[in-house]
Amino acid sequence: MANKGNGYIWLDGRFIRWEDAKVHLLTHSLQYGSGIFEGIRCYSTARGPAIFRLHEHITRFMESMKIYCVPVKATQRQIEQATIQIIRKNKMPDAYIRPFAFYNGVGIGFSTAGLGASVSIMAVRFGNLFQGHQNGLRCKTSTWHRINSGILPAGAKASGNYPNSILASKEAKDAGYDEAILMSDSGMVAEGPGENIFIVKDDVLVTPPRSANILMGITRDSIIRIAQSSGVRVEERDIRKEELYTSDEVFFSGTAAEITPITSVDSRSVGGAKPGPITLSLAAKYSSIAHGESKEFGGWLTYV
Ligand SMILES: Cc1ncc(COP(=O)(O)O)c(C=O)c1O
Repeated sequence: MANKGNGYIWLDGRFIRWEDAKVHLLTHSLQYGSGIFEGIRCYSTARGPAIFRLHEHITRFMESMKIYCVPVKATQRQIEQATIQIIRKNKMPDAYIRPFAFYNGVGIGFSTAGLGASVSIMAVRFGNLFQGHQNGLRCKTSTWHRINSGILPAGAKASGNYPNSILASKEAKDAGYDEAILMSDSGMVAEGPGENIFIVKDDVLVTPPRSANILMGITRDSIIRIAQSSGVRVEERDIRKEELYTSDEVFFSGTAAEITPITSVDSRSVGGAKPGPITLSLAAKYSSIAHGESKEFGGWLTYV
């Protein structure tokens, strides 16, 4: 996923050039994974670029920083405004936006006492994470369990959580699959490495609850609301691993993945081994809302 960007990056209240965004190798967050980040999409619409659920993403960003006591001076409003400005400044029709906060102190030792923090906002052009797999992913349940909040704050979008995702994803790909599905520490289905997961069984849409130590995805929330407003019954409950094999439909949701169908799990085909009707209908509705083509949920877009 090497994305070469250009243009400008917002750093602590000013714009710097892409190539000038450099830190020392001993920067705390680089050494110890103490960074906090977000992933937000800006979609092209007939009224120009629009950022999807900006306020909710920056709320999660602020909460993740609070959990880690990252001493940023910028307010939520300033960060939201800066997110809009980076799209304007770079004149981008659409983008994947990456706010990133980090302890900028340099030295040995993981204590954060006395360290300052910086906030940056980057934007790149980026297609779907699973480009070329829109007909369905072949997934493998991982031997790596999803972290739990007794070990690391699973609800924070913190860099230090992601070696868990990296290992699971690598294991699946090395075994010839497209992506991993992680179980919670109690053996129930949790999520993908960077995506929430849904199953459909007998026309009911089911997704794991907060207690499965998932990241509370903003796309997940959007899908739940779109489904409910379309009359689809939604349940947030524990999902057993074997339910993945016997579901009618399975899909991932996430900012980078959007809605990506899963058509086999552990070499068992799911449903008809092709994207199912509820998945396709939710994906179409999500896309039309994100591109400003739907009147419903219009408040989710912040026009740049
Ligand atoms: C571990 C994890 N789960 C789920 C998600 C999906 O969250 P969202 O829909 O807010 O992008 C992400 C991506 O941010 C993630 O990294």
